[in-house]
Amino acid sequence: MTAYEKDNCRDSEERIKMMIEAGYPTVGKEIIKCTRCQLHKSTIKRVIGKGSSHPKVFFIGEAPGKRENETGIPFYGRAGKKLDKMIEYMGLSEEDWMVTNTVKCHPPENRKPKINEIKCCKPFLLAQIILLDPKIIILLGNTAEESFCPGRKLEWGIPVEHEGRTILKLYHPAALIYTASRIETQRVFIDKNRTLWE
Ligand code: URA
Repeated sequence: MTAYEKDNCRDSEERIKMMIEAGYPTVGKEIIKCTRCQLHKSTIKRVIGKGSSHPKVFFIGEAPGKRENETGIPFYGRAGKKLDKMIEYMGLSEEDWMVTNTVKCHPPENRKPKINEIKCCKPFLLAQIILLDPKIIILLGNTAEESFCPGRKLEWGIPVEHEGRTILKLYHPAALIYTASRIETQRVFIDKNRTLWE
């Protein structure tokens, strides 16, 4: 982490407080003008989030990919089609869910976001969660877990309480593209947890 990035991550609590007091549209404005980590240098569009403004379920993915970078819309590409199917299988309607990522800018060459990038972006994620106040947070894969509850290792498909909310770790939709056998396992995880959002 450069000294510049370290400095930018230091005052996270103040930033979260400011965004919460200012309201949800300010979170988007702050994301658009953010230069806290190096990702902003190569990004085309910041990817804020998509979905309901009063979601029951809040999905956290990894990072915007190439298509998301071009459009500014999360889960726009192939993984997005899988996420749509997952949401349909869960029986959620449009007002029920929202999706965003651990970082709002596209990491070059589709690499995983680095820990410091996730840290710099986390105040935005936390402000989104606090303001939208979802009942359940679904972590789509390990990067979402590392961002949202660092140091805590969750079991796939087993819900736990974390800072006053229910969180559930499920497979990232992209993992369902590359390992088709996970589709059935993911369905089992969803079936076992339906009461959380129904
Ligand atoms: N698209 C996103 O917005 N996030 C991911 O994690 C993958 C694809």
